[in-house]
Amino acid sequence: MTELLSPDPIGLARAAALLRGGAVVAIPTETVYGLAGNAADDQAVAGIYAAKGRPSFNPLIVHVADRAGVDRLVEVGAEAEKLIAAFWPGPLTLVLPLKEGAPVSPLVTAGLPTLAVRMPAHPLARDLLTVFGGGLAAPSANPSGRISPTEAAHVLSGLDGEIAAVVDGGRCGVGLESTIVGFDDAGRAVVLREGGVTAERLAEVLGYPLDTRAEGEAINAPGQMTSHYAPQGVMRLNATVAEPGEVMLGFGATGGDLTLSASGDLIEAASNLFRMMHALDEMGAERIAVAPVPDEGLGRAINDRLRRAAAPR
Ligand code: TXA
Ligand code: MG
Repeated sequence: MTELLSPDPIGLARAAALLRGGAVVAIPTETVYGLAGNAADDQAVAGIYAAKGRPSFNPLIVHVADRAGVDRLVEVGAEAEKLIAAFWPGPLTLVLPLKEGAPVSPLVTAGLPTLAVRMPAHPLARDLLTVFGGGLAAPSANPSGRISPTEAAHVLSGLDGEIAAVVDGGRCGVGLESTIVGFDDAGRAVVLREGGVTAERLAEVLGYPLDTRAEGEAINAPGQMTSHYAPQGVMRLNATVAEPGEVMLGFGATGGDLTLSASGDLIEAASNLFRMMHALDEMGAERIAVAPVPDEGLGRAINDRLRRAAAPR
């Protein structure tokens, strides 16, 4: 039985106690729900991989409460400092050199010399990290290859009975995973995954446009699965009208059975995206037509997720 914990000090104390005991607990963040375990505990991290059914070459993000927590884990360079000042706490993950002796299980980095770290902005995540007092490794709280959860009910629909508990924090505000930024050999920032912080805002802060590199490439791993974030049904993108038998997911002027945002607002569309994919699964939609979404700002991260969802499996 997976416990549903309340978003209050009693629920958080229970979550922290379970985490200290090495259990896996799903927690809300401002992006999506994370499947959290003690980053320093091999057993706990193994429990995350087991619950997700995730291939173990895919490393995890460690979440920290504060700057002291960051400095215990990684080396922060000058470019990273600028991004931290501008975007933390918030939906940005930085891939930085792991410090020697950092309290992180090698299962978290999958053996890499770098670590992905993030200081989340969600008040419950922050409170829990403070009560827990260490780093929490947390991938999105969905079975591998499935849609990321933006509500506690989504977590339970994929992982009920597989994890100790879920902290119910309601709906996630951003609705898309964090943007991941790494650094090349010259110290220049590179976008490894588009997400909650747009490339335009990163360029504003750093003073140059950032290159984008596929996650798989960046970690020299057998590649990020292309089919990811996928609903059960087959998706057809950039559709302006539904064909017979298709359920239509609209955007802006292109209406549908469901819509990401009737007013064409990309922020609203991002926060609705995974919820709508879950809803399509619940409807039993076998064929899904998706309206075009402009490829700018948050639309780039939305289109990345849609392309993965539509990839052949
Ligand atoms: O918003 C988010 O980032 C959510 C919430 C829970 O924080 N987390 C999340 O984690 O999306 P996950 O595990 O689903 O995605 C983490 C991504 C993976 O694709 C992994 O390849 C990449 O981060 N990653 C982790 N460590 C890395 C590293 N050292 N170098 C390059 N990429 C890394
Ligand atoms: Mg994920």
